[in-house]
Amino acid sequence: MRVYIKTYGCQMNERDSEAMMAKLLAAGHTKATSEEDADILIFNTCSVRDAAERKAKGKISHIRKLKQRNPNLVIGIAGCMAQRLGEKLLDELPHVDFVVGTGQLHRMPEIVMEASSKRMAETLESKDVLTGMGEHLPGGVFGQIAITRGCNRFCSYCIVPYVRGREISRDREDIVREAKEMVDAGTREILLLGQNVAAYGLGGDIRPPRPGYSPFADLLEDLDSIDGLERIRFTSPYVTYFNDRLVEAISKCSKVCHCIHLPLQSGSDRVLREMNRQYTADIYREHVAAIRRAIPDVTFSTDVIVGFPGETDEDFAMTRDLMNEIGYSQSYIFKYSPRPGAKSAALEDSVPEELKEQRNQILLGDLAERVAGMLSSMVGDTVEVLVEGVSARNAERWSGRTGTGYMVHFLPDGDVAPGQIRHIKVTRAGAVSLFGELLK
Ligand code: SAH
Ligand code: SF4
Ligand code: F3S
Repeated sequence: MRVYIKTYGCQMNERDSEAMMAKLLAAGHTKATSEEDADILIFNTCSVRDAAERKAKGKISHIRKLKQRNPNLVIGIAGCMAQRLGEKLLDELPHVDFVVGTGQLHRMPEIVMEASSKRMAETLESKDVLTGMGEHLPGGVFGQIAITRGCNRFCSYCIVPYVRGREISRDREDIVREAKEMVDAGTREILLLGQNVAAYGLGGDIRPPRPGYSPFADLLEDLDSIDGLERIRFTSPYVTYFNDRLVEAISKCSKVCHCIHLPLQSGSDRVLREMNRQYTADIYREHVAAIRRAIPDVTFSTDVIVGFPGETDEDFAMTRDLMNEIGYSQSYIFKYSPRPGAKSAALEDSVPEELKEQRNQILLGDLAERVAGMLSSMVGDTVEVLVEGVSARNAERWSGRTGTGYMVHFLPDGDVAPGQIRHIKVTRAGAVSLFGELLK
């Protein structure tokens, strides 16, 4: 049967979709080119904000028409929203054949077969999902490996610990083997994934590791020694896990990119406490300073929530000031969305939608101005990029990314190919990316 998977949500979901597709291909199915062309249609969903759930539900309702045309079409909902709502989705969406939660994704080939004769919902947690999701689709320059699953941190606003279950780490040998296989098949950059990657190997303990100790640092060092691998990135680490050992490993491993995603969420200590984030603005600052001392060219990106219950103008001003002080080269700003079941849902969602949007726009404005400044200051520099391929927006140009995360567009020469490391002289700055000339 021909399979089409539509993915919502974060990189973890993208990675899960890849592993599911690889499993289904290994079971003898093929890839469909579009939703219309599919015999099996799977929606891998996200629950992190209400808007994410509404979007997926809207899309799935709409797909009813396809089922009317082709009664043999098997429609499934997988992932975080499937885990959260389970059987309720079967009631709400009568044309859906199966609902499969985050703990059962490794059973996708069996589930697809079962669901073609009987509607079903399966949301049990299972540790087998950890070992059963190692498959990759062949041959991409960029690859992703999930090194942990689940989350134990229970930030008060967040649904992830409820829909992804308890935090578990994969074996180091398995991860290294998987990485080597990917590199043999052509992968040059690997993105390590987890809700808190820096908690890797700590056995689910929510206390940051003691000084001098970091199993995540050990893993980075193992991966750094793989021949043929060019770059290692990771997302997301929790700020307080950046101890001396981890910072030193990142600065010494030549393949680990100097571009760190470090979620802040808020710059107000009172809001951070309400969010159950285990740091203050000053603790966050100190970690950033320590990372900068060891890795002077490091860039930071972040996640911030505006409009958390009770967020005042002063709280917001502290977030804004801290963001400008740190000088992020990228930030993802989210308007607070109460999630039923998460602790903060008991608090009144007190910041009106218009004010959330206003705060969102202010932070986006600051970011645009700062990024424009950072990019113009790079004109004249020579940068090193990992070549991605033809630009998405202009077919005459190619593009690649610097280790610090900037996208650079350039005219190809006869030798350029995806996966190469090349040097580029930056000639011009755009609003969000750079332009330059390929050097020999
Ligand atoms: N594990 C990652 C975050 C995963 S969710 C980490 O801790 O860094 C990605 C981002 O979504 C979070 O960092 C947060 O900024 C945002 N987010 C999570 N729950 C939210 C909610 N209820 N409303 C708005 N944004 C939310
Ligand atoms: Fe959610 Fe916090 Fe876990 Fe990130 S660390 S997934 S924000 S509970
Ligand atoms: Fe990711 Fe959304 Fe689930 S952010 S972990 S897909 S709730």
